[in-house]
Amino acid sequence: MQSTLQKIEREFEAALASAGADPKVVDEVRVRYLGRKGEITGLMKQLRELPKDQRKEAGQAINRLKRSVQERLENAIAAASSAQRDAALAGERADVTLPPLRPWAGSLHPVTQTRRELERVFRDLGFTIEDGPEVEDDFHNFQALNMPPDHPARDATDTFYLADGNVLRTHTSPVQIRTMETRRPPIKMICPGRVYRRDLDATHLPMFHQLEALVVGEAVSMADLKGTLEALWTGFYGAEIRMRLRPGYFPFVEPGCEYDISCRVCGGDGCRVCKRSGWIELGGAGMVHPAVFEAVGIDPQRYSGFAFGLGIDRIAMMRHGIDDLRLLMENDVRFLRQFPEQP
Ligand code: DAH
Repeated sequence: MQSTLQKIEREFEAALASAGADPKVVDEVRVRYLGRKGEITGLMKQLRELPKDQRKEAGQAINRLKRSVQERLENAIAAASSAQRDAALAGERADVTLPPLRPWAGSLHPVTQTRRELERVFRDLGFTIEDGPEVEDDFHNFQALNMPPDHPARDATDTFYLADGNVLRTHTSPVQIRTMETRRPPIKMICPGRVYRRDLDATHLPMFHQLEALVVGEAVSMADLKGTLEALWTGFYGAEIRMRLRPGYFPFVEPGCEYDISCRVCGGDGCRVCKRSGWIELGGAGMVHPAVFEAVGIDPQRYSGFAFGLGIDRIAMMRHGIDDLRLLMENDVRFLRQFPEQP
């Protein structure tokens, strides 16, 4: 029995040595010696055939061998699996000297970028920036702006009426009224914000952005209006921009006009963008109507003023060559990503 055990032990050692660090082969060795039909397991079964007085000693010897084989197998298995893990880690090692993937940061919406840029130019010209409610009452949106209930100009704007008789403001002009109600001249203000009309196609949205400007003081004239518009557009686009006024009608100004700037695409020669005219229409303007001053309790004999409006979305579109206004509102990140924030 003793020599059988020694033989098995030597063979086991040789088998384990040749298995090396391959966990699969190590496990095969385990099965060959300790498995259900393994050699050491078989020895235990043979015990029964030994004479009674030898069984105890032989059993102890087999158990010793079994424990030592078990222990060496466990060590070999642990060594093999850590060798395997080391090999895997070496294969997956990260190169920390590589440049990182740049995370995509969000940026300001092109309409916001344009609004802020306009605000910068106005601030440089000494204007304050005002705010007003988007749900407006009839007085501020229409009446105080010289549009009494039966005035035909009310039909021109498709208004969203609320159940309580208020409206979603159809323009930013009501903020003129609110500012003049609470402050005395001199006033030099702008109000950028959302406005609402029942409209929807490639160039009209039910919600869009306007900016309103108002200047009130003593002896404010049409020349001041023109000079301010020129300072605004050359400040915004550059010195080469030309500007012109055309007669136009708005109930809250008299005289009223519309203003154009020279087309930035063709420089004024005429192209598809400006419909061959060389000019781009930007908004309405005029001298504040005396009826508007009366509605807010400012003396039209003493004070005069000018006001003008512009569409922020249109300026953002022209700026970036966007041909469908709806793109600005869908907030598809594939679109927005094309306008990373400007410094
Ligand atoms: N409120 C006008 C509109 O929404 C735009 C406008 C025209 C504003 C003339 C003005 C102005 O201040 O003087 O169509």
